Amino acid sequence: MATHLRSNSTAQLQALDAAHHLHPFSDHAALAKEGTRIIVKGEGPYIYTNENKRILDGMAGLWCVNIGYGRKELAEAAYAQMQELPFYNTFFKTTNEPVIELSAKLAELSPDGFQHVFYGSSGSESNDTAIRLIRHYWTLMGEPERTVIIARNHAYHGSTIAAVSMGGMSAMHEQTNPKLPDFKHVLSPYHYGYSNEGETPEAFGKRAAQSIADMIEEVGPHRVAAIVGEPVQGAGGVKIPPESYWPEVMRIANHYGILVLADEVISGFGRTGDWFGSPGMGIKPDLITFAKAVTSGYIPLSGVMVGERIAKALFEKGSEFYHGYTYSGHPVSCAVALANLKVIETENMLPHVRNFGTPALEKLLAGIKDHPLIGEVRNHGLLGAFELVKDKTTKTRFPGDGAVGLICRDHFFREGLIFRAVGDTMCMSPPLIWQQAQFDEATAIVHKVLDLTLADAKKL
Ligand SMILES: Cc1ncc(COP(=O)(O)O)c(C=O)c1O
Repeated sequence: MATHLRSNSTAQLQALDAAHHLHPFSDHAALAKEGTRIIVKGEGPYIYTNENKRILDGMAGLWCVNIGYGRKELAEAAYAQMQELPFYNTFFKTTNEPVIELSAKLAELSPDGFQHVFYGSSGSESNDTAIRLIRHYWTLMGEPERTVIIARNHAYHGSTIAAVSMGGMSAMHEQTNPKLPDFKHVLSPYHYGYSNEGETPEAFGKRAAQSIADMIEEVGPHRVAAIVGEPVQGAGGVKIPPESYWPEVMRIANHYGILVLADEVISGFGRTGDWFGSPGMGIKPDLITFAKAVTSGYIPLSGVMVGERIAKALFEKGSEFYHGYTYSGHPVSCAVALANLKVIETENMLPHVRNFGTPALEKLLAGIKDHPLIGEVRNHGLLGAFELVKDKTTKTRFPGDGAVGLICRDHFFREGLIFRAVGDTMCMSPPLIWQQAQFDEATAIVHKVLDLTLADAKKL
């Protein structure tokens, strides 16, 4: 069937796709009319369409293909493991060698105080696990009324009902209708969007953190279980908190004795130049959720790193935790993760991000700061963004709710580069492997696309 399909024309493939495939986060009627792009191959930093158009992938797939495409080591690890043991569960007092080895490796790579991992397949599942673990912990500690989790506006924690309720996307809440109770949302630490006139990043960061303390007081401190946050809000538009923010959040969490969950689904495994993003931002979490780049997206795998506070309760209070997924600790996914981590380690990708990738991205962004369309540029490691505005001096936005962002994104695609539009913010998350040649290629396209977008925006 696949061979037959591959000989079909683009129009035939698009028609079949439109007839049977419901895409995530899509207006199905509009997409069916416009037609999907068919991606057939990936090699290093590039992907290729079925019409052999080469595109530089500035999003690492969906914030995940950190080592780039086409690495045979990962395919070979999957092939070998599938032949040896393609599946066995980890429920029945059973385990497998890849999951043992991976758990020990993750304990070695994660910040101090993390010795245990609970696995799932997606980022959403890992956050559901974390929510259940947090509530189970407080029940074990004799405080079952602590069920409230405080999150931030613009947070993205996934698409399951629990993860979407914990996330701070109002449009998603409307469609979930109603979202689950006991998830409260506070100010996003987004200085460009929410600071008052003349408010410094330092002062704004502290004010954003204070909104958490205010919410704790409003809900009642005895009811609050945890604070959750992405070190950098990714899908919400790469919103990077001021340096004062996370240390102040930690002070508040410690003051009230509540747990901290760091959602590192995007920031883990090299994106920030470190294995995890939390330590570099002053976050000392009790749980870390991860997914995506643990396998560089080659195969689904996610998990929760469980810190010693919760692990101690699990081991010492000795009660069964009724939770798990068929694919928790899947041997093939774990074998691929081990191969992926080995590539990141042996090819020195973390120092490459710190010493080369991050300054190169900063240079690219600095080069467009003065363009009339650009309101702000920002980056943290290889997570970057620029905001498109109508008037950069007054920070006036374009009308049309993200229309200019979509125009810009489509120009990028036509010019052979993928960046993601979140409203009128263009987000980027290139694979860790970008060299000077890729930054040069991206820089030339970015300048061209900004001019094309400006010309179109003037017509709006
Ligand atoms: C920070 C964060 N958490 C959770 C998720 C959900 O992951 P998944 O799509 O694998 O369920 C995402 C996805 O982009 C994410 O960015």
